[in-house]
Amino acid sequence: MTGTMNLRSRAHLLGCVLGLRSLALVLWGIPGARALDNGLAMTPTMGWLHWERFMCNTDCEEDPDSCVSEKLFMQMADLMDSEGWRDVGYEYLCIDDCWMAPQRDSKGRLQADPKRFPGGIRRLADYVHGKGLKLGIYADVGKLTCAGFPGSYGYYDIDAKTFADWGVDLLKFDGCHFDTLVDLADGYKYMSLALNRTGRSIVYSCEWPLYMMPFRKPNYTEVREYCNHWRNFADIYDAWQSVKSVLDWTSSNQEKIVDAAGPGGWNDPDMLVIGNFGLSWDQQITQMALWAIMAAPLFMSNDLRQISPQAKALLQDKDVIAINQDPLGKQGYRLRKEDNIEVWERPLSDFAWAVAMVNLQEIGGPRFHTISLASLGGGLACLPACLITELLPVKGKLGFYEWTSSLKLRINPTGTVLLRLDRTN
Ligand code: GLA
Repeated sequence: MTGTMNLRSRAHLLGCVLGLRSLALVLWGIPGARALDNGLAMTPTMGWLHWERFMCNTDCEEDPDSCVSEKLFMQMADLMDSEGWRDVGYEYLCIDDCWMAPQRDSKGRLQADPKRFPGGIRRLADYVHGKGLKLGIYADVGKLTCAGFPGSYGYYDIDAKTFADWGVDLLKFDGCHFDTLVDLADGYKYMSLALNRTGRSIVYSCEWPLYMMPFRKPNYTEVREYCNHWRNFADIYDAWQSVKSVLDWTSSNQEKIVDAAGPGGWNDPDMLVIGNFGLSWDQQITQMALWAIMAAPLFMSNDLRQISPQAKALLQDKDVIAINQDPLGKQGYRLRKEDNIEVWERPLSDFAWAVAMVNLQEIGGPRFHTISLASLGGGLACLPACLITELLPVKGKLGFYEWTSSLKLRINPTGTVLLRLDRTN
């Protein structure tokens, strides 16, 4: 693949000069790839990630079914295969923090905790690949991971090679415990190049902007050149308050981040918590709909062994997933907010649009909202007419509408109505 070759030669060049700051600055000036050119994440990555639901549970004696162990990942792999998750697109089964042994091995390599991962990561990767899935792993740019396990600082090449040797397909690279902002930026860049040098296709999931933000404005053009997706905002948790804060941050910063997204590189608003404990049904619908509008990577963090048929159907909704995975790859944005109703829209391929209306009023019952179709898609979404399909909360064709008409919808408190508009001639 030429993209890989380009990046590889750039990697080599950069690797040689990373210490020589002035020379490196000259090189940064050379126009490079606009997106990380590894051919991956052409649509937002989909999969499962253990963190929000299982956190750093290492106590397999007390809690054998929910501790971070190879058994947990093998069970999830089995279900992703047998319960239709892989078939609708959830492909990457990802390990987060707390998989490691507290020390590197005698050759300086990371190793999995021998009690919890007795077969080692290589064997787990084989197992996961055998189910037609891909394996993701976690490491940290600094001296320690966020939970205090060995960090990759000073070991980027060794770690990249170790992951490639094991057959890993995605790296979530966290940003705890870095010393300086220069270390943070150089570390994220260096690891991107080191992964590429291994020759293995490894999706690179960053948190660089999140850790940069308190000190300096992230340069998204640069982030996109090195990462397949990047976190911008605090960790999600299983509550409406958290989902709401992600949406609020995203719409408040949309001028800065929306244009940075596209095939090969995506803003990552963090995991889907659908199927857990904290969100009402309407709030789960809101998360699914808005993660589709935001072209977000879809990493579920839930327990696939115990998930309600309703949550499963929502997460496996092919029409909503199709919006998330739309090949045009343009992230949606908030169009307006009126009287606690937000209208979001996203351009899709074939001149179609997705539109989401969220009712943020938390008092009272369902509210009606009337939307003029001429106000959508810069006036073009329904010109001269369109077929409107409701995808959430209830699937069904609403019919053909003229550009001049309007649409009245009922939206539950903290819920969302998600529509698809297909233009007709
Ligand atoms: C950070 C990340 C989370 C998770 C934890 C693990 O907080 O943002 O997504 O990976 O570390 O310790």
